[in-house]
Amino acid sequence: MLLSLVFCGAGSRARTYAGIAAEMPDRYAIAAAADPVPARVDIIRGHAAKTRAPAPFRAFDSADALFAAGKIGDVCVIGTQDALHRAHAIRAMELGYDLLLEKPIAPTLEDTEAVAAAARRLGRRVVVCHVLRHTPFYSEVKRILDSGELGRLVSLNALEGVQPWHQAHSFVRGHWSVAAKSSPMILAKSCHDMDILAWLVGAPHTELSSHGSLTHFTAANAPAGAPARCTDGCPVADTCRYNAALYCRPEGRRWLGMVHDRAKDATDAEILDWLRTSPWGRCVYRCDNDVVDHQVLAARFANDVTATFTMTAFDEGRHLELFGTEGWLRGGSFIKKQLGCDLLVQRHGWGQEPRRITLEEPKHGYAGHGGGDWGLMSTLHEDLTRANPAEMRTSLETSLQSHRMAFEAERSRLQSRSR
Ligand SMILES: NC(=O)c1ccc[n+]([C@@H]2O[C@H](COP(=O)([O-])OP(=O)(O)OC[C@H]3O[C@@H](n4cnc5c(N)ncnc54)[C@H](O)[C@@H]3O)[C@@H](O)[C@H]2O)c1
Repeated sequence: MLLSLVFCGAGSRARTYAGIAAEMPDRYAIAAAADPVPARVDIIRGHAAKTRAPAPFRAFDSADALFAAGKIGDVCVIGTQDALHRAHAIRAMELGYDLLLEKPIAPTLEDTEAVAAAARRLGRRVVVCHVLRHTPFYSEVKRILDSGELGRLVSLNALEGVQPWHQAHSFVRGHWSVAAKSSPMILAKSCHDMDILAWLVGAPHTELSSHGSLTHFTAANAPAGAPARCTDGCPVADTCRYNAALYCRPEGRRWLGMVHDRAKDATDAEILDWLRTSPWGRCVYRCDNDVVDHQVLAARFANDVTATFTMTAFDEGRHLELFGTEGWLRGGSFIKKQLGCDLLVQRHGWGQEPRRITLEEPKHGYAGHGGGDWGLMSTLHEDLTRANPAEMRTSLETSLQSHRMAFEAERSRLQSRSR
């Protein structure tokens, strides 16, 4: 069955999903896209041309214009920024669309519950883009856990290393740097990790506490004489790892592509000129950012499992440790780099050696959240076409639990800061 997609927002994430949908023409057609930036809609139009849409592609300059056209597809992809999710998601569901909804569901608990209530009232299926579940890595972890090899899960530790440049790009200079304009870090970045915790533990949390703060990316740490913008003659430009001029380098251009429409083709001079006025040209120690660069969380769940989670700007990649009554599992980017395998699993007892598991590289590589973007688009089709919605691999109800954990963690963190 062919599902036709309409895109509400044609930004970085939406274009990724459109590109993947175009590679699955037996499952998806692309019917329309809406965005105030015409060049972004044109990229989705290009992907649409590779699909077998029953009607010509339609372009709109806003979500309002798209919704005014009525229901012109099966699934609405909500790819606008966090603060717009509630209005766009509910409007789309009222028109009759099922949703592929970018995370977070919404930036506040009240808005999140409102989206969930609308989905229940209208009987719509909503897949939230918690891409990690769909990676080969976490799928294998879940399979091992469900197989009983570790016995009963008793406790787990998880770590997310955001990586210093990523932190600076997205959470110091970028879209998610001010909590009131987007959402707190634990929701914006770590709701993926909350989702994984909730999914692996398989029970709601009963207690949760959290601590964290913004420690490094503050004015107090600015090098002497550093101006407000890297383009204004910074005395440490040659040694600063956050120098915005690094956006001209090939690795920098990959990041720039998420926020600059001509990142691939622009000359260095054009990029440097853009950095003179853009948020991404600001000194990372002189921004208006307030989201944390490190946070920890400790939780107890209804099945007595305990879990800890650390988010830090100052590591790269995710790491996971599961401890069960019969054995343990460790895996993630550190083990991959040091040992070359993805997971280690060992049963308790004298003389036991860890079993090394190396996963087959996903067909489309690890690009796109470790293969999760491709996995999500495959699951989306299965979930929206399966007869029984209760059997969906990922539903709005399941995603709600991770959001509740994130909101509670943020409340706990703020309370602990005010003591
Ligand atoms: N699943 C993930 O891992 C992941 C990763 C990054 C971001 N996100 C989330 O995805 C969402 C989009 O992020 P992004 O990086 O693609 O942002 P983006 O800024 O690139 O895309 C948002 C787009 O919405 C458009 N827009 C603004 N107002 C609009 C309106 N009224 N109608 C239609 N379009 C409008 C903007 O022009 C822009 O092109 C955010 O909620 C973000 O938190 C998810």
